[in-house]
Amino acid sequence: MPVDVAAEVVANRLLSADYNVLTLTAPAIAATAAPGQFVMIKAATGLDPLLRRPFSVFEMLRDSSGTATAITILSKRIGPATASIYDARPGQRMACLGPLGRPFTIVEPPADAWMIAGGVGLAPFATLAQALQARRVRTTLFYGARRAAELFYLDFFRALGVELVISTEDGSAGERGRVVSPLERALASRAASSPVMLYACGPERMLAATAHTAMKHQRPCQVSVERIMGCGLGGCYSCVVPMRGDDGRFYHVRSCLAGPVLAADEILWES
Ligand SMILES: Cc1cc2nc3c(=O)[nH]c(=O)nc-3n(C[C@H](O)[C@H](O)[C@H](O)COP(=O)(O)OP(=O)(O)OC[C@H]3O[C@@H](n4cnc5c(N)ncnc54)[C@H](O)[C@@H]3O)c2cc1C
Ligand code: FES
Repeated sequence: MPVDVAAEVVANRLLSADYNVLTLTAPAIAATAAPGQFVMIKAATGLDPLLRRPFSVFEMLRDSSGTATAITILSKRIGPATASIYDARPGQRMACLGPLGRPFTIVEPPADAWMIAGGVGLAPFATLAQALQARRVRTTLFYGARRAAELFYLDFFRALGVELVISTEDGSAGERGRVVSPLERALASRAASSPVMLYACGPERMLAATAHTAMKHQRPCQVSVERIMGCGLGGCYSCVVPMRGDDGRFYHVRSCLAGPVLAADEILWES
């Protein structure tokens, strides 16, 4: 069950001029959230922004006795809510509702897991990587960003034993270009008999390209879609995603309820 808490900001770690990681005391959310779930946060007390905004649960923190204490969110500043989150100060409180939505399905060995992240789409993969490591699933992170300075938490993933495949648009780290290129090559060279599950989160065009690549190579793929979300609870229909049914008919789902994690081959992609 989601809970709505007045979460206290206990830390705000600025990662770059636009990215930060905010730590919020939310023990009930930290105790129950699953990888891929999100929270709806009211970032400021005034009228701007009026509505809460959705954020993936980035980390679930525990104290030395193992008790869940807090969550973190990885935020990229793009407008008023994310600007308030970037400027947040310890002691401030933010209404935080969650955990919400459907999480990723976590595979078991012998399947491998390949996570594909674009930019702030890294956010759901810290908890997913931990869950996969707990099941001893061999995990790779294909991580794309605009430039080297926008790649974060690499050591965190390395420490979990995750193999990293890096790409940047300007070539300042890893391969120059889009993250889907090394993914395509890796899929093409993988034996059909070796199972692998793809998990993707990032900009819509990256998700569409990943979905098409996964379908071409007949690999299962779950994507975490990013829609504008007015409520996060199924009431406003701002978050609908067009889907294709087994019978070929089209229908819409509210991604805050049916998602944000959806099967890539069931989405009706525009490109
Ligand atoms: C399930 C889910 C999880 C998310 N997790 C994260 C996260 O972990 N970290 C993070 O930084 N962001 C995340 N987002 C995106 C985040 O919710 C938006 O960046 C935020 O709502 C922007 O609010 P704002 O007031 O700063 O900017 P706004 O003024 O609301 O938006 C600025 C511009 O971005 C566009 N926009 C807003 N929201 C989205 C969206 N969801 N997709 C595409 N364009 C959008 C707006 O149309 C506008 O043009 C997530 C979104 C969803 C749906
Ligand atoms: S965000 Fe309101 S229905 Fe999905």
